[in-house]
Amino acid sequence: MKKWKVGFIGAGGIARIAHMPGWKKLENVEVIAVSDIREEVAGAVAKEFGIPHIFTDYRKMLEIKEIDIIDICAPNAVHAPAAIASFEAGKHVICEKPLAITPGEVEDMIAASKKAGKMLMCAQNHRFRPEARILKKIIEKGECGEIYYARAYALRRRLLPPAPTFIKKELSGGGPCLDIGVHILDLVYWLMGNPKVKSVSGVALTKLAKREDIHGDWGEWDRKAYNVEDFAAGYIKFANGASMTLECSFLLNMKESEIFAGQLFGTEAGISLPWGVPPEIYTEKNRTFMIKQLVGLPQIPTHHEEIRAFVEALDKKKPSPVPPEQSLEVIKILDGIYRSSRSGKEVQFK
Ligand SMILES: NC(=O)c1ccc[n+]([C@@H]2O[C@H](COP(=O)([O-])OP(=O)(O)OC[C@H]3O[C@@H](n4cnc5c(N)ncnc54)[C@H](O)[C@@H]3O)[C@@H](O)[C@H]2O)c1
Repeated sequence: MKKWKVGFIGAGGIARIAHMPGWKKLENVEVIAVSDIREEVAGAVAKEFGIPHIFTDYRKMLEIKEIDIIDICAPNAVHAPAAIASFEAGKHVICEKPLAITPGEVEDMIAASKKAGKMLMCAQNHRFRPEARILKKIIEKGECGEIYYARAYALRRRLLPPAPTFIKKELSGGGPCLDIGVHILDLVYWLMGNPKVKSVSGVALTKLAKREDIHGDWGEWDRKAYNVEDFAAGYIKFANGASMTLECSFLLNMKESEIFAGQLFGTEAGISLPWGVPPEIYTEKNRTFMIKQLVGLPQIPTHHEEIRAFVEALDKKKPSPVPPEQSLEVIKILDGIYRSSRSGKEVQFK
């Protein structure tokens, strides 16, 4: 079996905590290079994981011919240029979420991947939760009937990630909408079967994040530098007649510390997919309301699972486990919320 050689672009939090250990678990993979604009960060990660080459400029790293795969864990604004450069250098790409900031960037990434004949996958790790895989099968078997409405929430009371990567628009492209909204939107939209997007309306607001009297449970952030929304909500209509709401925030005056959940409503059954507690399926039989709980599912590290699926697809010459065309629709929705918020109008898609 081929031994895949991997190089990293970005060696911060998610690279060190989730991706590096994921690659290390696989026998037919070797991480041989890491690049980060902060040399000390690249150096520390290289030392911790025994990686021979470090770079501060990823373009130099891309010159290494034996690298087959690039794992992009840099801020969102770096995703598109880094992926396109990687394809031009003949590498496969797995890239952290959101795949990019705008639909145009994602289209350019897809075009570059096709031109190079190399795989592109967005690291949407929530799709790899065991309960998500089971629910997907249940829905595909038709057990929910026609799903005509869904809700997706990624709401936090006081959990704002203080790093520049998340609060400076130049790096992130947006706030909770692009950071955590993308996770729950991608998951619920995928469970719905990725219907074609028809229109999006929404708001993206900065209400609390610039206030000195508002605290964060993940530490202080630079109020002056903060230039993204702290709350967003959207209403999405699909070409098949279904619709969906999305709500996301870093800071919201609510009881719970965090709600990360999806709900899907079909003609035969409804689904509740919360975080940390078993999902439930609601039906009616013989005029009796039934609740089915999915219990006893294993807890697996989903980032490791997404990396394993990516390598398996390469080994078996299968398509990208997270098709980038699906990620493009997700970014269209999020971009649609920002555009609708600016214009005050519904954004239509052809
Ligand atoms: N899937 C998840 O659960 C999850 C969780 C956190 C972050 N993320 C995503 O991962 C990405 C990184 O987030 P993070 O939390 O690791 O942020 P981070 O700030 O901890 O790390 C980002 C790293 O990228 C480096 N960097 C910046 N520009 C670069 C460039 N041009 N070339 C190489 N390196 C560069 C920075 O120096 C930093 O070390 C973001 O896209 C974020 O949305 C995903």
